[in-house]
Order: sequence, then C-alpha cells, then structure tokens
Amino acid sequence: MWGGRFAAGPSAIMREINASIPFDKALWRQDIAASQAHVAMLGAQGIVSAKDAAAIAAGLNGIAARYETEGVPEEWDLEDIHMTTESLLAEAIGPVAGRLHTARSRNDQVATDFKLWVRDALDQANAGLAAFQRALVMRADEHAASIMPGFTHLQAAQPVTLGHHLMAYYEMARRDRSRFADARARLNQCPLGSAALAGTGFPIDRAATAAGLGFEGPTANSLDGVSDRDFALDYLMAAAQCALHLSRLAEEFVLWASQPFGWVRLPDALSTGSSIMPQKKNPDAAELVRGHSGRIVGCATALMVTMKGLPLAYSKDMQDDKPPVFEAAGLLALSLAAMTAMVAESEFRTDRMRAAAEAGYATATDLADWLVRARGIPFREAHHITGASVKLAESRGLALDQVPLGDLQAIDPRIDDEVFAALSVDASVAARTSYGGTAPDQVRRRVAEARDALGMESQG
Ligand code: ARG
Repeated sequence: MWGGRFAAGPSAIMREINASIPFDKALWRQDIAASQAHVAMLGAQGIVSAKDAAAIAAGLNGIAARYETEGVPEEWDLEDIHMTTESLLAEAIGPVAGRLHTARSRNDQVATDFKLWVRDALDQANAGLAAFQRALVMRADEHAASIMPGFTHLQAAQPVTLGHHLMAYYEMARRDRSRFADARARLNQCPLGSAALAGTGFPIDRAATAAGLGFEGPTANSLDGVSDRDFALDYLMAAAQCALHLSRLAEEFVLWASQPFGWVRLPDALSTGSSIMPQKKNPDAAELVRGHSGRIVGCATALMVTMKGLPLAYSKDMQDDKPPVFEAAGLLALSLAAMTAMVAESEFRTDRMRAAAEAGYATATDLADWLVRARGIPFREAHHITGASVKLAESRGLALDQVPLGDLQAIDPRIDDEVFAALSVDASVAARTSYGGTAPDQVRRRVAEARDALGMESQG
C-alpha cells in the first residue's frame, strides 16, 4: 500500500510483529459497516461519483458475504482487516476500489471499527447482567424467609435470609449495569472523518457518517478522535469490577458446596468429577469464574499500561488495544452465563443453613437488643450481660435459647421468660425491618421492585 516510498519490502520479523490480522479480523463486520457509511457519504457529497460509490458498495457487500461463508483470509503482508478488505475489493472491482480510501485513514477507520465493536460488547454485558439479575430475583423470592447465618470476618454474626444475601448481588449487578451504561453514553461519538490525525480538506459530512453508524454525532477533535481509547478502558474497568463481583459469588458457591458447609448442591451440569476419587463433585465452573476475574483485571491493567505516556496522536502501540478487550469480553460473557446458571439451578440446602444459624450464637445481638428495649438497659451494659450468657451457653454446649431461665437470671435478674421469643432465628430476622434490612417482608419488597425494574411478571 505504500510501495511508492519503499525500495525493499519488510523482513519476515517485521511482517510478523506488524500483523494484527490474526486478531483484528474479528472486526470485519464493523469494518464493512464503517466503509459502507463512508462511501455512501463520499457519493452523497460528490467526492466520488454516484456510479463509483455504487460499485464500491456492491463490492463491499460481496466481500462481506465471502467473509461470512469462508472466514477472513489471514495474510500477514496485508497487516490488518482494513488492508485485507481493501485488497479484496481491488481484486473484485478493479482500480475504482482505490477511491474508497479518500478522506480517511486507517487511524480513524480502526478507532471507528473498534468503537462499534466495544459498543456491542457493552450491550452484551448489559444483557448478560440482566439475565443474571433475573436469576437472582427468582431465587431470592423463593428464599425470602430461608434462614442462614450472616457473616462478618467469616464468623457467624447475625441470622439473615438467603433471599437477602442473593439480593446483595442483585445490587452489585445493578451498579455494574449502570457503569456499562455510562461507558456507552460516553463512547457514542464517531471518530470517522478525523482522518490520519488532522482532519481532511475534502468536503466530508461527518454528521452523516456518524448517524449512519448509530452514533450521536462526530468526535470534536481529530487528534483525540484517532488517539482516544478511553472507551475501551471504560469497558475493561467496568468488566473488571463486574468480574470481581462474580468472583465473590463464585467463592461463596465454592465454600457452600464444600462438605463442612454443605449448603448447596451444585447442578451436575456445572460440576466435574474426579478421575480417582469417585465421591467428588468439584465446583470447577465457580472456580474458573473466580480465576477468570484475575485475567479480566489483567486485561484492564494491560491496556492502561499500553496507553500510559503515549504522545498524540496514533502510535502503533495502540494496535495492542484489541487483544485484551476481546479476551475480557469472551471471559466476561462466559462468567456471567456460568453464574446465571449456577444461581438458577443450584439446590440450596436450607435445613443445613438454618442449623448453622441456630448453632452459632447468631442471635446474641437480639438478646442485647431485648435487654435494651424491654428493660431499658444501656446497650453497652446489655452487651456485657449477653457476653456472659453466651459464655455460659458455650460452656454447656447449648444454644442461647436452651439455657435454663434460672441460669440467665443468675447473670442478670432483669431477664424473664419473655426473652425466649426474641432468641429464635426467625424472630431475629423478622425484627430487622429497617429499610434495606433482612426481614422477609423487606426482602420481598425489594424483590418486587426488582421484578418491576427488570420487567418480570410479578408473583401472584
Ligand atoms: N493495524 C492498525 C491497528 O490496529 C491499524 C492502524 C494503522 N495505522 C497506521 N498509521 N499504521 O491499530
């Protein structure tokens, strides 16, 4: 493409290090769409004749059909998807193909193609998250009153409901979706027409190409247009944060599926067996989601480091922008699908969860709260009385509500048998009616709002 200036061709090393076609062929649909928008504009503006524009458009359609059926040929000499398409176009329609590259450069071309690709990836992440949220909401509804221990420091802290726990992930997914939506709003300006870096002297219509490609309008600075990769970073950072959330849930499934917990039976379809230990059912999908999150964070880091310190405008370093984005998008889509299925299809062993909540003195706070509410004792003093009661119960191997009243009264005579009503795990969660609290009624209220927001049918 630049033979006029060069006496010798590139070495084998140069061809290999220079080639982006092995990965940027994934942009072929976007590349054809952007070229179609460009040539339609060139024709409309009279920069190329209507006849030539029509010949180029038909030629591009032919190449798209060929890519669709045969795939994109990987010719390193042609470097990338842009030159591959241009060269195939020249083969197909002859020298008129050369008019397509009027008033553009691969610099604005690649920025445009890549933005179109990332825009689709943002939409896919949003759809994947919506499906994940629907699965969470269904199971949360089912388990709005199923008791489990809530933890801090992974120590049983206070009873909560499984529905409440699952809805915590719904909130994380909600924030993830809003991050992807932010990124999409910021992305949606079209770099095409920035040309190599300085704009062009041809009378192009940037508003027309932007509209043709579904952008809100053209980017406002040609240097920024060709060198901005914030949109890819916005995507990667939102993907990284989403992956962190998925890995926290994956970790809980790994933990809950272990024998000492035994709180969940994972679907066979999302587990593997062991080749030598027949009893095993391994939570591989959850472990891989946990593992993939590290790779997705790595992709975000990779592109940040690539972009750091690059002078304006385009530098070839930026060719390395695509592999981390493609990798992260693939991993994120898989991770979302795996966690959606895991939430939807796992069998929660609520009997074991409840037993764990009853075993861990998780209602100690309720005893302290009762002393405050029913007996007017200051909370710090109530905390002390409760501590002594837990110590006694522990030394006898009893649950808090199994300690004989006389023994509790020996610790503090203001305790009477009304206290036992407050010490059951059901009473404990039912009492936590503050906004956003774990009381089943609160959980059901939030589930109903979520169903509404997701356009799900409400439960009768
Ligand atoms: N293959 C290049 C990339 O992916 C396309 C842009 C090349 N531009 C240039 N001035 N060499 O970034």
